[in-house]
Amino acid sequence: MDARACGGLGSGALHERNNSRPAAVQSFMSASAETVVRCESLGQSYVSGGRELDVLQDINFTLEPGGFLAIVGPSGSGKSTLLAILGALESPTSGTVALAGEDPARLSEKELAGFRNRRVGFVFQDHCLLPQLTALENVLVPSLVAPPDAARDARARELLEAVGLGARLDHRPAQLSGGEKQRVAIARALVMQPALVLCDEPTGNLDARAADAVGTLLTDLHRRLRSVLVVVTHSAELAKRFADRRLLRAGRLVAA
Ligand SMILES: Nc1ncnc2c1ncn2[C@@H]1O[C@H](COP(=O)(O)OP(=O)(O)O)[C@@H](O)[C@H]1O
Ligand SMILES: [Mg+2]
Repeated sequence: MDARACGGLGSGALHERNNSRPAAVQSFMSASAETVVRCESLGQSYVSGGRELDVLQDINFTLEPGGFLAIVGPSGSGKSTLLAILGALESPTSGTVALAGEDPARLSEKELAGFRNRRVGFVFQDHCLLPQLTALENVLVPSLVAPPDAARDARARELLEAVGLGARLDHRPAQLSGGEKQRVAIARALVMQPALVLCDEPTGNLDARAADAVGTLLTDLHRRLRSVLVVVTHSAELAKRFADRRLLRAGRLVAA
């Protein structure tokens, strides 16, 4: 699975089944009232064809509980790269990222998988739903690898209700419109009640009307839940919904 396209959606978390919570993840959870994201002097470079490409340079920002941030920039400006680092899918080549005080670089692969599963919700441009599962089953996928929680099924139903799909619980992805599939993906991102929700071009595959509805839904849900929401997009329409916007330009994050 391409980590940039559908990463963090439960694949790695399978390692964790039936294991007690690793200490590092426990300390993350107890620290969840603190700063959720802290990036310091963050940089990412790739070597390609013998040449070094500095995609991100000296990125600094913090996000507190309940915060949100829209990052805009043209295609190729490094938006997905930054999101992959914030979601602990990739490590930066320089600087540090701390997620609620925890440095993902210090976690083992197994701990990282559990950490992402519980603490980060991902919404990608493609909905990444499993075609053979119903809407409700898709929302519950991240919980399959977590310790049992009797409340989760009810929460998944509530979330589908909240995204306007209370009458579509048993629909399979092929029976849903593009906008509805993305709503299921948003409910799935929230089912574990993550500290951090990361959305990479969440309206990129939708027509204007569905994109508008998903934009409204994201901002509404964010007001009601306490997760930090980070949305990266090249859509000015989506970005203008967010008061705190930054622009990625020449690898640096500047005021939009
Ligand atoms: N794994 C990689 N190896 C080499 N170059 C990469 C890699 N991932 C991304 N890039 C390059 O980094 C730049 C930013 O990519 P990306 O973060 O996907 O941009 P955006 O999401 O803003 O369109 C692009 O020039 C891309 O080619
Ligand atoms: Mg991208």
